[in-house]
Amino acid sequence: MENKVAMVTGGTGGLGTAICRALHDQGFIVAAGYNSGGNHAKAQAWQDKQKEAGYDIHITYGDVTDHESCLKSMLHIEEVTGQTIDVLVNNAGITRDGQFRKMSYEQWHDVLSANLDSMFHTTRLVINNMVERGWGRVINISSVNAQKGQFGQCNYSAAKAGIHGFTKALAQEVARKGVTVNTVSPGYIKTAMVKKIAPEVQEKICAGIPVGRFGTPEEIGRVVSFLADDKSAYITGADISVNGGLHMF
Ligand code: CAA
Repeated sequence: MENKVAMVTGGTGGLGTAICRALHDQGFIVAAGYNSGGNHAKAQAWQDKQKEAGYDIHITYGDVTDHESCLKSMLHIEEVTGQTIDVLVNNAGITRDGQFRKMSYEQWHDVLSANLDSMFHTTRLVINNMVERGWGRVINISSVNAQKGQFGQCNYSAAKAGIHGFTKALAQEVARKGVTVNTVSPGYIKTAMVKKIAPEVQEKICAGIPVGRFGTPEEIGRVVSFLADDKSAYITGADISVNGGLHMF
């Protein structure tokens, strides 16, 4: 997939890093979007670490809840690569877990804004170029908890389920233009997001996973690079589960 540009939002995080590396291994020019609360030094250190490991990845600051900020970030990528974005991986996301009966509007709004509104802000900026070029890939990271619901995640389950509705609708709109739009729904993957769950709750969740363990970020990167491939042109509007058997339907 040489000379094609892939942009991964939340690219410097746990899943994001593995996705960036998998796309880089596949030959893409890769850009990682980061927010990190504006901690540019942290992102720079991440970039240096990737370089040491043989991964030359561009970084770009952006807030996926803010359209103007996304625009600046995309323009920055176009400037440094001299190209428009061919593959967009909407991976940035947050959790603010808690039972709904105790949930604040802020918890609700922050999660919907970062996980679902962000689909508009980022995708709207790249989709027309993909259509005009006649080639593109939009890969949205959802969650097993969108498919099955999860105690303590009314906000997250709603946002992540919304992503799949978005995927299926957009997939139909651009299907004849060489652009595919798909969702990947990870289960519990060993990242900082899962490590935030209380250890006793983690244990209970893990006990319910047929494969008997949490997944690795690389197991998600593999599926994203599969969908990004030129040869995956007939897969669109799909939702691929990578959850160790936690939810089968
Ligand atoms: N089903 C039914 N009841 C449950 C339950 C469950 N799964 N989990 C907890 N409860 C019950 C407890 O038994 C307890 O009941 P009692 O009050 O009757 O004793 C009560 O709920 C716990 O009440 P708390 O006040 O402690 O609950 P809380 O409002 O503080 O919220 C929680 C607890 C933070 C939601 C905690 O249960 C939790 O962390 N759950 C896991 C949430 C989770 O899976 N998050 C995924 C994060 S990773 C991610 O999102 C990535 C991805 O895509 C998979």
